[in-house]
Amino acid sequence: MDVFEAIRTRRSVRQFTGETIPREDLERIVDAGRLAASGSNKQPWDFIVITDRAMIGQLATTSQWIEKAGAMIAVVMDPESRWWVEDGAAAVQNMLLAATALGYGTCWLEGYTLRHEDAFKALLGVPAEKRLMVLVPVGVPVEWPTKEKKSLAEVIHWERY
Ligand SMILES: Cc1cc2nc3c(=O)[nH]c(=O)nc-3n(C[C@H](O)[C@H](O)[C@H](O)COP(=O)(O)O)c2cc1C
Repeated sequence: MDVFEAIRTRRSVRQFTGETIPREDLERIVDAGRLAASGSNKQPWDFIVITDRAMIGQLATTSQWIEKAGAMIAVVMDPESRWWVEDGAAAVQNMLLAATALGYGTCWLEGYTLRHEDAFKALLGVPAEKRLMVLVPVGVPVEWPTKEKKSLAEVIHWERY
């Protein structure tokens, strides 16, 4: 799948079959994250790949759909870096596209993660000075959602707003 097809077909998937994901696929997805652009090339990120079912269950708290993810990728950022939010977002988007290209569903869980940040940092052994920005569940989708997007004509402006 080329990058345009991955961009076109990616959607947040919240229904997984529960199948496990080969380690090499998870490495390819994280590799896409670590190759993202970052302000001053600081690369202020670490990625925790979680495949342990009990830990995934704990990270799912009361969200049953998350429990069915084959793996979770936690994006840990260094807030000392000036553009850590933008850098983290770039890494997450790269991983969503890479996972899509490999046939996996994902969901950018940021609101959810930040609500539970302290508890999840403790569970995952994240140092106090780092931020746990996003959890990305990765799984084999039960189905591919087709959420509507604004059209190009609605958002594109040429030369001036
Ligand atoms: C910054 C950000 C935070 C998000 N947080 C959550 C979240 O906490 N829980 C969730 O289920 N989806 C979350 N999402 C996914 C969005 O709901 C989803 O991207 C949006 O509805 C558009 O759908 P699509 O991803 O299928 O295009 C988040 C997405 C972004 C970019």
